Amino acid sequence: MNGLLLILLAYLIGSIPTSVWVSKHFFKIDIREYGSGNAGATNTYRVLGPKWGTIVMIVDMLKGMLAVKLAFLAPELLDHETRFLNLQIALGLAAVLGHIFPIWADFRGGKGVATLFGLVVGISPWTALGCSGVFLLVLYLTRFVSLSSILASVAFPIFILIIFNVDNPVYRVFAIAVALMVILTHQKNITRLLKGAESKVPIFKKRDK
Ligand code: G3P
Repeated sequence: MNGLLLILLAYLIGSIPTSVWVSKHFFKIDIREYGSGNAGATNTYRVLGPKWGTIVMIVDMLKGMLAVKLAFLAPELLDHETRFLNLQIALGLAAVLGHIFPIWADFRGGKGVATLFGLVVGISPWTALGCSGVFLLVLYLTRFVSLSSILASVAFPIFILIIFNVDNPVYRVFAIAVALMVILTHQKNITRLLKGAESKVPIFKKRDK
């Protein structure tokens, strides 16, 4: 299939606004009017509970993984490793942009982290494992999902550029751009973190001290 059509398809998949549809269909609310106002797994967890938060997280991740796998619909690239990887990156990125600016939900979506994670799982499982380690460690220490997401995203280019020393220039630029994009989508969280006003998720520990 034509590369541009695949990218459009990836964007439409990423645009599936899981948390918005779950909140509207099962709870008759719009998740974007509650909690942090973000249309993502963390806010779903916060407002609708762990079960729905987990479901939204898994579906949002799957969107990124599926988008990357669309590259197999361009079999002519299978023998061209670099071009195939570049297409996977473009497809994953289209899905993440879809998640942030969903056509199915007034272009007001989430911050892209779960979909981005799915993308990395699909392209570089070892890097995804490393980023998960950073995420879980920061979450364990702080219980701030936002800070965990930001630091895991910052770890992403470190894994790509320094630890695994990936030589594909597109992937290197993409990794840096992703870290910057996550910082940008978390601007309100960063302001709240600096003010000491960010909310923690009740995970790993039963009570706040
Ligand atoms: O991925 C989103 C998360 O990092 C923060 O979400 O709802 O706390 O703004 P939220």
